[in-house]
Parts: sequence; structure tokens; C-alpha cells
Amino acid sequence: MTAILALLSLAADLPASDRLCATCHKDIVQRYYGSAQAHGSTMARALYTIDQAAPLLGPKPLTYKLGKYSYTLTGPKYSVTDGATTLDLTLAWAFGQGAAGQTYVYQHQGTWYESRLSFYKETKSLDLTMGAPPGEPRTLIEAAGREMTAKDVTACFGCHTTNSIQSGKVVFEKLQAGIGCQNCHENALKHARTMQPQASLAKFTTEEQSDFCGRCHRTWADIASGGPRGVGNVRFQPYRIANSRCYDAADRRIACTACHDPHGPLEVNAKAYDSSCLNCHSKDKKACSNKQADNCTSCHMPKYEIPGSHHLFTDHQIRIVRPNEKYPN
Ligand code: HEC
Ligand code: HEC
Ligand code: HEC
Ligand code: HEC
Ligand code: HEC
Ligand code: HEC
Ligand code: HEC
Repeated sequence: MTAILALLSLAADLPASDRLCATCHKDIVQRYYGSAQAHGSTMARALYTIDQAAPLLGPKPLTYKLGKYSYTLTGPKYSVTDGATTLDLTLAWAFGQGAAGQTYVYQHQGTWYESRLSFYKETKSLDLTMGAPPGEPRTLIEAAGREMTAKDVTACFGCHTTNSIQSGKVVFEKLQAGIGCQNCHENALKHARTMQPQASLAKFTTEEQSDFCGRCHRTWADIASGGPRGVGNVRFQPYRIANSRCYDAADRRIACTACHDPHGPLEVNAKAYDSSCLNCHSKDKKACSNKQADNCTSCHMPKYEIPGSHHLFTDHQIRIVRPNEKYPN
């Protein structure tokens, strides 16, 4: 009875396997998934079914115009018309929370597509999906979205879901939307059922952790070899931070988890990060030209908008930012 009562305050849409973790790791599960009172990590909800996404979109139809094409999005219904012909589509999945953008994925005649338009929470409206080709689309189908290759489908769902890929293909019946506990804690279900010890992720070196998170956030090597160059790479933290003079592959004080709780929402109060910087810089505090050197990240980790993203990303290349400098990469 007390166990049941204790579980009542957990999010209602918790996947069954992660609800099981809560019987022993309730604080972590609660922090990660959030509750009516507090946000969890966006990672827990990196994918929604289109019905779950509906409240974000609201009941009113959203519209957009691109050259001769007019778009309407109402719940799962997405239609595009060129004035003469209308293409009516039903969206299947919503990727992301919409802070940087919420992008939709749908099937048309057996093929998966990524919507040309995304919803942006900052502007509460539709705009082009980041990376959508410029100019006027040639056909209605092209106007609606981008055809995804089999590789794209596996990659998108691979990074935004749990337990969905088998032999290189997405198994939709098994898919758990969002990044569940087992996505990072491999084989944890076995630990939960049999009480076998669970491998610890706290033993990773800084570099190993960067690569671990970089499976989705992209590793230094991914970006160094494949790009993008320029401000577009500001969202790839493992790359940016490794290029900073603060970075030391063996020093845990500059690991992702020295600043981020992998089980919690993103901390947005700059002051909260000062202690992480001062773990290494306590002695040079006076060397900093700023006399009231609070909120270190507000000067040394500047925010950039990737064009078209309607969102500010934080540059993890910690540095002295010179006036009118070129974006270093
Ligand atoms: C019946 C209780 C129970 C359940 C259910 C359970 N755990 Fe644990 N777990 C423990 C205990 C006990 C430990 C070891 C002591 C500790 O860290 O609290 C542990 C340790 C861990 C560790 C830490 C390993 C380390 O040394 O750093 C991880 C990670 C973990 N569990 C993940 C999970 C996940 C994910 C689930 C759900 C799939 C889960 N556990 C379900 C009891 C449980
Ligand atoms: C399986 C893929 C995956 C892995 C592994 C992963 N992330 Fe994420 N992470 C994501 C996605 C996807 C988002 C964006 C979710 C959204 O906005 O819908 C995200 C968002 C975040 C955020 C922003 C959270 C918020 O509440 O706004 C932080 C911080 C973060 N990740 C840190 C980490 C760290 C640290 C690690 C390694 C310990 C890690 N991630 C591993 C996929 C992953
Ligand atoms: C290599 C892993 C990876 C792949 C592949 C991937 N994503 Fe993501 N996605 C992430 C991570 C990590 C984030 C969070 C950090 C960021 O915004 O860059 C993210 C963020 C997003 C966001 C913004 C979420 C928000 O809350 O603003 C959207 C939308 C999104 N992805 C859609 C997609 C779609 C659609 C695809 C396939 C065409 C895709 N992603 C493929 C890892 C991935
Ligand atoms: C994005 C990856 C990621 C996800 C998802 C994730 N964890 Fe963890 N978890 C970590 C990392 C990394 C550590 C080690 C933290 C450190 O370096 O100190 C950890 C540590 C733990 C520990 C060890 C004790 C502690 O307090 O740190 C437990 C228990 C645990 N996780 C349970 C869970 C449960 C339950 C869930 C699902 C609600 C979950 N984790 C989801 C990455 C993740
Ligand atoms: C020295 C501290 C520090 C370290 C180490 C660090 N971060 Fe951050 N991170 C921040 C700060 C500060 C923010 C911005 C918080 C805010 O104001 O929104 C941030 C934001 C983020 C975001 C949200 C998107 C954005 O651009 O704002 C993600 C995702 C993220 N970090 C992932 C990572 C990953 C992955 C690693 C490890 C490779 C990492 N961080 C290492 C300090 C750090
Ligand atoms: C793991 C230890 C460590 C952490 C954590 C760390 N730094 Fe550093 N930082 C260094 C080292 C080492 C250098 C190289 C210069 C030196 O030897 O003092 C450096 C250099 C710098 C520089 C000068 C860089 C340049 O462009 O010349 C700035 C500014 C800086 N750090 C700010 C910060 C801030 C702000 C934080 C927190 C967000 C932080 N550091 C976190 C170790 C660290
Ligand atoms: C208002 C902006 C601002 C804030 C806040 C700030 N700094 Fe700085 N910091 C600077 C500038 C500008 C320089 C370059 C000074 C120079 O070249 O004389 C600098 C230089 C540094 C250096 C390099 C010193 C050297 O001699 O190479 C370090 C390390 C540093 N800051 C760390 C920090 C830490 C840690 C914090 C937070 C406790 C912090 N800073 C807060 C603006 C700031």
C-alpha cells in the first residue's frame, strides 16, 4: 500500500520498465521524468506520438505560406495546397519539445518523410525546419517534406527513442518514445529483475563520457571529420568543449556530468555553474578582469543562434571572448 502511494506522484506516462526502476530509485526517476510541479529532462521526452504533442500545438489550426504553397496543421492533420491540388497527410511522430523546434515525421505511400515545417515554441508558430533546402519546392510532395532514406529513419529514431532498433531497422511495435533509463544503462532491466549489480557509468574518464553522450550529441571525431564548420556546430558540445583550453581528457572536473545532472532538467541559472569553474580556477579568480566575477558562463560560454533555429545554443568552447571575434572553429 505505501509502495503504491509512493508511486502516485510519478508522471502518468512513465514507460513500464522505467516505472520499475522507481521502486528503488524513485528520486532519480522523478527528477528525470518530472511531475506536475517540476520539469524533467527533455531527454525523457525527445519523441512524442502526435496525440501527445497536440497540447503544445493547441486546438487552433497553424498556417504557413511558402511561394504558391499554403500549409495547414491541425493536430495530426497536415495539408499542403498549391491552389489547384491539395495533399492531405496524417502526421505520426513529433520529434523534440520545440525549444529549438518540433519536427514531424509521417508516411506517404509507404515512404517516411520529415516535415518541411517545424513548430517553434519561442515564436509559437510554424517555420521552415532547420536544414530545409531554400527556394520554392517543385512539387506538392516536395513542398510537404523531405523523403527520408532507410538510414535516416534508423538514425532519427535511434537517437530519440529507446529499444527501437533491431538488425539496423526500427521495430515500431517495440519502440519506447524518448530516452529511457535503459538507453544509457544497458541491461538495467536484468538488474531490476534479478538484482545483479549494474555497471557504473561514473567510472568513465572525461573523454569516454564525451564519447558516450556523443553517441547522440555527436563526438569530437564526428564533427572534426564531417563538419559542419561555422556556427552550425555550436550545438555539438563534445566537439566544442574539447577545443577549449579548459579541456583535459583525463580530468573529471570538465566532464559533462561535472556541470549537468544526466537525470535532471537543464539548469538555466548561470550562477549555478560557477562552482564547476571554480573547481579549477579558484586561484585565478582575481586574474579575471571582471571584478564581480559571478556568472562566469555569461561571459565565457556565449550563446549563439543557429540561423533559422529560433533558439540560442550555448558555446561549450569556454574562452575569453574578444569583441568582434570570428566564431572560432
Ligand atoms: C529492487 C530494487 C531495484 C530496482 C527495481 C532497480 N535497482 Fe538499480 N540499484 C539497486 C541497488 C540496491 C543498487 C546498488 C546501490 C545503490 O547505488 O543504490 C542499484 C544500483 C544501480 C545503479 C548504479 C550502479 C553504480 O554502481 O553506479 C544503476 C545505474 C541502476 N541501479 C540503474 C537501475 C535502473 C535503470 C533500473 C530500472 C531498469 C533499476 N536500477 C532498478 C536497486 C534496484
Ligand atoms: C540516446 C541519445 C542521447 C544520449 C546517449 C544522450 N543524450 Fe542528451 N539529449 C538527447 C536528445 C534527443 C536531447 C533533446 C531532447 C529534446 O529537446 O526533445 C537531449 C538533451 C540534452 C540536454 C538538455 C536537457 C534539457 O532538459 O533541456 C542535456 C543537458 C543533455 N542532453 C545532456 C546529456 C549528457 C550529459 C549525456 C551523457 C551522459 C547525454 N545527454 C546523452 C539525446 C541523448
Ligand atoms: C546522432 C543522434 C541524432 C539524430 C540522428 C537525430 N537527432 Fe534530433 N537531436 C539529437 C540531440 C542530441 C538533440 C538535442 C541537442 C540539439 O538540439 O542539438 C536533438 C534535437 C532535436 C530537435 C530539437 C528538440 C527541441 O526540443 O527543440 C528536433 C526537432 C530533432 N532533434 C529532430 C530530429 C529528426 C526529425 C531527426 C531525423 C531526421 C533527428 N532529430 C535525428 C540527436 C539526434
Ligand atoms: C542520458 C543518459 C542517462 C539516462 C537516460 C539515465 N542515466 Fe542514470 N546515470 C547516467 C550517468 C552518466 C551516471 C553517472 C553519473 C556520474 O558520472 O556521477 C548515472 C548514474 C545513475 C545511478 C547511480 C547513482 C547516482 O545517483 O548517480 C543510478 C541509480 C541511475 N543512474 C539510475 C537511472 C535511472 C533509474 C534512469 C531512468 C529514470 C536513468 N538513470 C537514466 C546516465 C543516464
Ligand atoms: C563547465 C560546465 C559545462 C560542461 C563541462 C558541459 N556543459 Fe553543457 N551547458 C553548460 C551551460 C552553462 C549550459 C547553458 C545553460 C543555460 O543557460 O541554458 C549548457 C547547456 C547544454 C545543453 C543545452 C543546449 C544548449 O546549447 O544550451 C546541452 C544539450 C549540453 N549542455 C550538453 C553537454 C554535454 C553533452 C557536455 C559534455 C560533452 C556538456 N554539456 C558539458 C555548461 C557545461
Ligand atoms: C578541469 C579544470 C577546468 C575547468 C572545470 C574549467 N577550466 Fe577554464 N581553464 C583550465 C585550464 C587548464 C586553462 C588553460 C589556461 C591555464 O593554464 O590557466 C583554462 C583556461 C580558461 C580561460 C582562458 C582561455 C583562453 O581563451 O585563453 C578561461 C576564460 C576559462 N578557463 C574560464 C573557465 C570557465 C568560465 C569555466 C567554467 C564554465 C572553466 N574555465 C572551467 C581549466 C579548467
Ligand atoms: C563580465 C564578464 C566576465 C565574467 C562574469 C567573468 N569573466 Fe573571466 N574574463 C573576462 C574577460 C574580458 C577576460 C579577459 C581579461 C584580459 O584579457 O585581461 C577574462 C579572463 C579570464 C581568465 C583568463 C585569465 C588569464 O590570465 O588568462 C579566466 C581563467 C577567467 N576569466 C575565469 C573566470 C571565472 C572562473 C569566472 C567566474 C567566477 C569569470 N571568469 C567571470 C570576462 C568575464
